[in-house]
Amino acid sequence: MAATQTHANVKGLSTYFSIAQARADRWRSVHRLARKLAAGSPLAESLRAQAQEELAALAPIEDLCAYPGPRLLSSLRERLQTADWTAFARLAQRISISLLSNSYRDDPAAWLVDEEDDAHTPDVLPPGLSASAGRKPYFEVLVVTPGERSTWAATRESLRRLRRDTDAFVYEPVVVGSFEDAALAAIVNYNVQAVAIFDGFPYPSQYSLADLREILAAHVPAEAAAKADLGTTLARMLKSYRPELDIYLATDRNVGRLAGSDEAACIRRVFYGVEEVLEMHLAILDGLQDRYATPYFDNLKKYAQRPMGTFHALPVARGKSIFKSNWIRDMGEFYGTNLFLAESSATTGGLDSLLEPTGNIKAAQEKAARALGGDRAFFVTNGTSTSNKIVHMALLAPGDIVLIDRDCHKSHHYGLVLAGAQPYYIDAFPLTQYSMYGSLAIRPIKEALLALKSEGKLDRARMVVLTNCTFDGHVANVERTMLECLAIKPDIVFLWDEAWFGFARFSPFLRRRTAMGAAAKIRDMMKDPAYRERYNAFKARVGEIDPKNKALADTPLLPDPDKVRVRVWETDSVHKSMSSLRQSSIIVAMDQDFHKFEPMFKEAFFTHTSTSPNLQIIATLDLARRQMELEGYELVQRATQLAIELRHEINGHPLISRYFRAATPAEMIPAQYRQSGMADFGAPGWSLSKTIAALDGDEFFLDPTRITLLCGNAGLDGTQFKGLLAADYDIQINKTSRNSVLVQININNTKSDAAHLIKALADLSRAIEKRLAEGGEEALAAFQARVKSLVQDVPDLPDFSRFHDVFRENPKSVSNEGNMRSAFYLAANPDACEHVKINSKEMDERLKNGPELVSAKFVIPYPPGFPILVPGQVVTQETITFMRKLDVKEIHGYNASLGLECLRPDALAGLRKAAPAALGTERVSKTPVGA
Ligand SMILES: Cc1ncc(COP(=O)(O)O)c(C=O)c1O
Repeated sequence: MAATQTHANVKGLSTYFSIAQARADRWRSVHRLARKLAAGSPLAESLRAQAQEELAALAPIEDLCAYPGPRLLSSLRERLQTADWTAFARLAQRISISLLSNSYRDDPAAWLVDEEDDAHTPDVLPPGLSASAGRKPYFEVLVVTPGERSTWAATRESLRRLRRDTDAFVYEPVVVGSFEDAALAAIVNYNVQAVAIFDGFPYPSQYSLADLREILAAHVPAEAAAKADLGTTLARMLKSYRPELDIYLATDRNVGRLAGSDEAACIRRVFYGVEEVLEMHLAILDGLQDRYATPYFDNLKKYAQRPMGTFHALPVARGKSIFKSNWIRDMGEFYGTNLFLAESSATTGGLDSLLEPTGNIKAAQEKAARALGGDRAFFVTNGTSTSNKIVHMALLAPGDIVLIDRDCHKSHHYGLVLAGAQPYYIDAFPLTQYSMYGSLAIRPIKEALLALKSEGKLDRARMVVLTNCTFDGHVANVERTMLECLAIKPDIVFLWDEAWFGFARFSPFLRRRTAMGAAAKIRDMMKDPAYRERYNAFKARVGEIDPKNKALADTPLLPDPDKVRVRVWETDSVHKSMSSLRQSSIIVAMDQDFHKFEPMFKEAFFTHTSTSPNLQIIATLDLARRQMELEGYELVQRATQLAIELRHEINGHPLISRYFRAATPAEMIPAQYRQSGMADFGAPGWSLSKTIAALDGDEFFLDPTRITLLCGNAGLDGTQFKGLLAADYDIQINKTSRNSVLVQININNTKSDAAHLIKALADLSRAIEKRLAEGGEEALAAFQARVKSLVQDVPDLPDFSRFHDVFRENPKSVSNEGNMRSAFYLAANPDACEHVKINSKEMDERLKNGPELVSAKFVIPYPPGFPILVPGQVVTQETITFMRKLDVKEIHGYNASLGLECLRPDALAGLRKAAPAALGTERVSKTPVGA
């Protein structure tokens, strides 16, 4: 993931994360030069040379894109050549703006050579594009052909001639003549939705630009060049880079045998020879329609148009109680009619049932599974908070042990209480300086599994729960984590909480680090003879997994391919990173043993799912999938580029960077987890290939779109800074820490949003400078003291202490799992609880001399948002010191006026007698205190 500088002339294409953005920048540069020429600059010759240089640099990229296309480009070059500056500037402006706004997809005028002369219109424009015709979504088809370049125009024309008025979409063909150029086109051109491969083309690109070579080296496996069958090799490369693409292959090989082979599994249709161009055209449109169709939303629209009489319990359905109301008519005006016409509590009329889907919800879920790379997907309308609880309940039984990140979202902790499973808490690496945790490293997870093995409890270790990416952007090495855990427990289930990370599926960079991306790779690996050889060598070297072997913690472990069960689950707040309504969430599974758990999954789904799910949430889940399958690649690349530019803008700004800073990967991830040495996005000398190597190998990677904006040096704590941004600049921020706020960039953000934030930071910086300049020494000293307290005097983060002995089956055990559910229900009895004030003498006394204080509740301060105490956990001095230093007002599970709620020692003693922790599943709230 490379960076960018701000001047288009000086940066190479391969320094960009999004090549499309690089292209738009170069066009802006051409436009700037053209404006200067048109304004009569005395430096015309030098400007012309620069413009020629820019156009020459653009030429290879333009070959890979339909717009502006050969005609507009040659006209532009001619105007530059003939020094017709005004005409040159007019056309350069039109092209640059059209590319920037993507308006050429809809606007016929963008395609005209001369805006006054539309005589050529019919044969230049995609015919669907006309002001009068209804809008047809536009896309491009990549045609890979062995034909000479001189035949390409005819190829394009022959495909254009197949267009019909009745087509639902309109496309322009882009023709290339080699493997490498096809790969480049798929990388550069986000309009490409389908690829028609005509066998027999050569491998090497026609361009020798170093930049393009670097891009190819980063994305195309080196061995591709040596493959005998370039057609299917190209298909596989494209599909792994952009899985959403429809690939078609025309070949004169034995198509019957080829079509049924594994190598062609990623090809949508195989054609014999070149004679079936019409069939291919129809197949292309059909493929698009398959991604475009939103079964649930499409039906909901139809439903809304039908004249329904409703006699069920949902007065807002059809909106009559609203539009005719004397008092709430503005509700109707504000939300519009469709919202009410599309409401129903019925599951008839083709609306299907979320609880037992058999129709369009089922179809929509199947498409979502495809888009997200899983075997199955389930829509959830009450957020990932609910998705997590469903998965916990479905896959866990009372007494199971779950290895879990203590810093994970509270829904997991509550899910464990509900399921009666025992958490084995593992701490993430701390980022004490920012008062936040990082993520769970692989080593402590392995150590926990080995500890369970050494105690003969591995059979009870059911699941590993991990957050990916974390709130603050720590992205795990999902593949390595799973391989190493499977080496110790080959059937362990993984629940990856990807609440923030759904978009990553559509990034060719981040996909490998998603649960489903890594699960698919591991599934293939376990069948691959090359992996088996690797495993055999590993086995010969390391032997059996023996927990007494201390070296295992530092040895990368490999699982036995004959024993592994790939059981991977992902939960994803679609509403957090895609275009769907709040609370829309999805569970995605790739679980080889799903059939065994399906009945329990249904029970869990029924337990947590409302019998009145919101139809609009379901519909937008369907729509978000459509969008991401068709434009996720473009949107995610753009958002990522924007985030990287924003980071550089902040850290490179002479004034802003004195007080604010976007924390870099080096600051957010300790060096031992960045084996590649990657320190920042696009640091000098950091090529695209090195970034890919970091993504492949490093233990953690930072999601560039999640920007920890450090504000301690401005004398502001996170909450203050968040308040200032909201009150004075209308900027909303979600998460804060003691000395930072989290700026999240997503597919909704624009360059203007980034500019808005930069302006706010510049204003704030100027205000600080003024205050310090005018306030004298006293103000400076106060400011410095405040900065020191925020940046240096940060409290240590308290690690998980332990469960009280009464909640442990064997208090001497080296593994730390505990029966949290017993503690939770013991606390339901007020007589079993006591309160101790945080700052009281009693607290100090108890911490020093006992009896031990044991938390009755989850205590979760916001920020940082992780439970510093869970029910049954022994309260330690570290926890209390942390709480005393915390300057946040919102602490869930803690009432400052009453004090910290703890389980009374006599209640714990009573529990020990009445209900041994090993049972752990029965209701203990009625246990008599002191019994
Ligand atoms: C890691 C994580 N998981 C799950 C959730 C809950 O998601 P939702 O808000 O969709 O219920 C959150 C919410 O912030 C989260 O941060």
